[in-house]
Amino acid sequence: MKLFVAVLMLVQLLWATLEVEDKPGGLSNVTQITEANINSTMFSNEVVFLNFYADWCHFSRRLVPIFEHAATQLKLEFPEPGKVQLGRVDCVKEPALADLYDIQKFPTLRLFYRGQPVRREYRGLRTTEALVKFVKSQLRSKIFEFKDPDDLVRIDPKRRAVIAYISDTDSLDYGIYQMMADRFKNDCDFYLRVGDYLEHEKFPRKLPALVFRPDIARTHGQDELYGGSLSDPWQVEPWILDKCVPLVREVNFANVEELIEERLPLLLLFHLPEDVPSIKDFKSIVEMQLADQRRQFNFVTVDGWKFEHSVKHMGLSAKDLLIIAIDSLNLCIHSPIFGHVHTGKLSSHAGYSSTTL
Ligand SMILES: *[C@@H]1O[C@H](CO)[C@@H](O)[C@H](O)[C@H]1NC(C)=O
Ligand SMILES: *[C@@H]1O[C@H](CO)[C@@H](O)[C@H](O)[C@H]1NC(C)=O
Repeated sequence: MKLFVAVLMLVQLLWATLEVEDKPGGLSNVTQITEANINSTMFSNEVVFLNFYADWCHFSRRLVPIFEHAATQLKLEFPEPGKVQLGRVDCVKEPALADLYDIQKFPTLRLFYRGQPVRREYRGLRTTEALVKFVKSQLRSKIFEFKDPDDLVRIDPKRRAVIAYISDTDSLDYGIYQMMADRFKNDCDFYLRVGDYLEHEKFPRKLPALVFRPDIARTHGQDELYGGSLSDPWQVEPWILDKCVPLVREVNFANVEELIEERLPLLLLFHLPEDVPSIKDFKSIVEMQLADQRRQFNFVTVDGWKFEHSVKHMGLSAKDLLIIAIDSLNLCIHSPIFGHVHTGKLSSHAGYSSTTL
């Protein structure tokens, strides 16, 4: 019986190896991207999903058939040209492209929407199903239209949202709003009302208008009206970045790797799963006292039950929650008295630790 399984596995392995070696030279639904064709590929497709690889890397080789299958499946579902294209970049042969996109490891998967990279690289599962699902999720329209300002009560209070009020869709404002929605669709939800001014308490006084609604279930924050010009992308983009990528983020298993790769020390609040008031207080205090430290620290909240191993690692247990800790990414220190954050000690703590760790 055991032997049978072993033989089966051997056959499977062989099959996978054959396919890996067979594909690159031959026909493929994955385009080989070089400096010569990258621009034309980017700008003739709505979505381009690129695999930056190196042949010497085992994980790159393992991805080849998976990526190929994903491309074939997507080609079947979206046969029309100009919709989706998967491509691969040999980073050994194309060092300028690897440089341009700041590729640090292989394989790196990045998606481009109308030539613009989406903010985060793909870090999900490397299976055909997961890749196809991801690409399809990026194709969906990311702007939800609504008519009546009362419809906005349906916005998920756990998500951040940007709401635009625009008089018509032929305007430059609308084009820029679409661009922003494409760029930040993974960080915020985007809503739109097209039409004339309405006399309504929930309606901004002047059009066009842009409003940010924070994740009200998790913060003390309220709606904020954008004060700049909507037709100036250089003003709109930093505002949306600032709102949609918050100063204090929640750590989960999906983003922990990305946070660590940003290589900033972490200032963490470990909390009980249901302790929303402490999360809100922590956010307000960080925003008030530590906003100028955005480039020195990553401020995060952590469910102390989900990340129990991290709590144990500090020699503590679930009954010690709340815990504030600083992780310089080398070692952890903790300040068990959450009350300190209310008295201004959090900022002195952060200042102290960032200079001594
Ligand atoms: C591709 O486009 C960029 C700017 O969009 C330009 O700098 C670069 O020269 C173009 N590359 C080629 C090969 O045309
Ligand atoms: C490319 O995709 C199409 C549609 O799924 C498929 O019929 C074709 O066999 C694929 N080509 C290769 C070389 O895999």
